[in-house]
Amino acid sequence: MQTSVGNSHAKIILIGEHAVVYGQPAIALPIFAVQTTVRVTAQPTLSEPLINSPYYSGLLSQAIGQMQGIRRLIEQLWQQLDDQQTAFELTIESELPAERGMGSSAATAIAIIRALFTFYHQELNQRDLLKLAALSENMIHGNPSGIDAATTGATTPLWFVKGQPLQPLPIDLQGYLVIADSGQKGQTGPAVKSVQNQMMSNPERTQPLITHIGELSQAVATNIAQNQLTALGQNLSLAQDDLRALGVSNSRIDALIETANQAGSLGTKLTGGGRGGCIIALAKTQTNAEQLAQRLRQAGAIKTWIQPLHALHTN
Ligand code: PMV
Repeated sequence: MQTSVGNSHAKIILIGEHAVVYGQPAIALPIFAVQTTVRVTAQPTLSEPLINSPYYSGLLSQAIGQMQGIRRLIEQLWQQLDDQQTAFELTIESELPAERGMGSSAATAIAIIRALFTFYHQELNQRDLLKLAALSENMIHGNPSGIDAATTGATTPLWFVKGQPLQPLPIDLQGYLVIADSGQKGQTGPAVKSVQNQMMSNPERTQPLITHIGELSQAVATNIAQNQLTALGQNLSLAQDDLRALGVSNSRIDALIETANQAGSLGTKLTGGGRGGCIIALAKTQTNAEQLAQRLRQAGAIKTWIQPLHALHTN
């Protein structure tokens, strides 16, 4: 029986989170080391698509709650791509943890779209891919920036300024990024709100922190284009100082960051909304990265991944 496969991967924010809300640039990276895979197989005996996923298994029309966005997307694709309305079975396998700032819902949407376009032998361009992904992302996240879908569907780092089109960034970088899951859900909403409150009540203190993160993002764009690994690490750690000063870190994240720094990380910070979620640490060699990952797991990280940076490339 015919089976088609669609893949996508995780994303992380390398630098610029929170400051991006106030017009500063941010840089997001695709993380190929963490994959989502969707398989589609024809099931002509069924009257409608059947879903198998970590969150829900059953008929498409019965999918409710957090699956509603995905259901909406699959219904749209089925209608758009299949005149015959022949049913299929769609299986989602994802290594991405949910609610850790790694773009899990966007990665699922991207992999579903790719799998179904392949299944129906249709060409898919990047513009349509992102437009379709927005169908489910808007339902799940309200009014997201689109950075998650863009990065989980991209092969290059992306430069992001609110209200402007995402730009691919040149990259020529050796080294390894270690990502560690604190085991706590990220709290993007409350963290964004708290920065907003500080911006209103104490702009003299808050604005310089935001502006400084923006300057660091500019410097990091140069670091990744010119293979400046040591400077990159320093800039990531400086951004973490600013994020901590904004109150979006927490004691568990701080403890993991301290562990990574003591274990030889070139630079370490939280990634995404903060107050939980993941941290990222920079290592020069694969051996250094493996040692860092091991120390982070010993210190309580529930999962770690290693992304070789030379695998990210300019299109
Ligand atoms: O936690 P994530 O990966 O969704 O990132 C949130 C990024 C923020 O800058 C904190 C918020 C935003 O809307 O840009």
